[in-house]
Amino acid sequence: MGLIIYLDGQYVPEEKALVSVFDHGLLYGDGVFEGIRAYHNRVFRMDEHILRLYKSARSIALQMPITEDEMKEIVLETCRRNDLRDGYIRLVVTRGAGDLGLDPRKCHKPTVFCIAASIQLYPEEFYQKGLELITVATRRNLPEACNPQVKSLNYLNNIYAKIEANLAGVPEAIMLNQQGYVAEATGDNIFIVDDSSTLITPPAAAGALEGVTRNAVMEIAVKKGIKVEERMMTRYDVYNSLECFLTGTAAEVIPAVKVDGRPIGDGMPGRLTWELIESLRELTKTDGPLIFK
Ligand SMILES: Cc1ncc(COP(=O)(O)O)c(C=O)c1O
Repeated sequence: MGLIIYLDGQYVPEEKALVSVFDHGLLYGDGVFEGIRAYHNRVFRMDEHILRLYKSARSIALQMPITEDEMKEIVLETCRRNDLRDGYIRLVVTRGAGDLGLDPRKCHKPTVFCIAASIQLYPEEFYQKGLELITVATRRNLPEACNPQVKSLNYLNNIYAKIEANLAGVPEAIMLNQQGYVAEATGDNIFIVDDSSTLITPPAAAGALEGVTRNAVMEIAVKKGIKVEERMMTRYDVYNSLECFLTGTAAEVIPAVKVDGRPIGDGMPGRLTWELIESLRELTKTDGPLIFK
């Protein structure tokens, strides 16, 4: 059965969910989005996702046509219409249809759509054995040019990096910022565990998106009494870490066991990584509003 999509105030079958070729989301990547997960009949970290969506929109001066509460209801209702209790939700707001010039003032009404479906980024094997990463030449966007904190529809920077990883035959890439510090992966945040058992991830200022999964993992770690630091890290820090993993809504928590040919720790997913995977799984059972009451 096809999906039911929310599009501009209506729930329509996927084949009727059509967007104009003049939409600036398509023509210019002018818009914002969220990838959200549903687990156990709940939308995980809904408030955080919607808040980030509205902050991204404010940042690109996109006037949202509906309130945050209305947007949350759209997410829940799209799940209900698709009988979805576990899955992946894509919420998108574009600048809307305009003319062929890039001036956003020509776009009079943002386009809003929501898809509730599923996603599997990596095969199960990678979650068990860990994946390999390489550092790529493509640098993460400068915050003063196209801020990585904005979850915009403009993903070409990340796609360039992903292409480099693909060409190298590895599943994911580490992107550095313009100063050479580690920023993040192409669609995930990066963490390491150093030899004093401190969990470290780059700050937003390093060119990382403030990931919802990242923040949840940091919260969990603090509660467990693990030392957590947001600080600049170099490739040296990654190569000499004992554990490394990526976090993202779609990828969840995935161990990385080799970076630029160097095995991380003993070359196997680490103990703390497993613990965090398990704790995040537990959290998804109780976090977020119910889809079906
Ligand atoms: C560039 C980038 N970094 C990090 C993340 C992880 O963020 P989150 O955990 O909110 O999905 C994403 C995914 O949305 C992303 O696209």
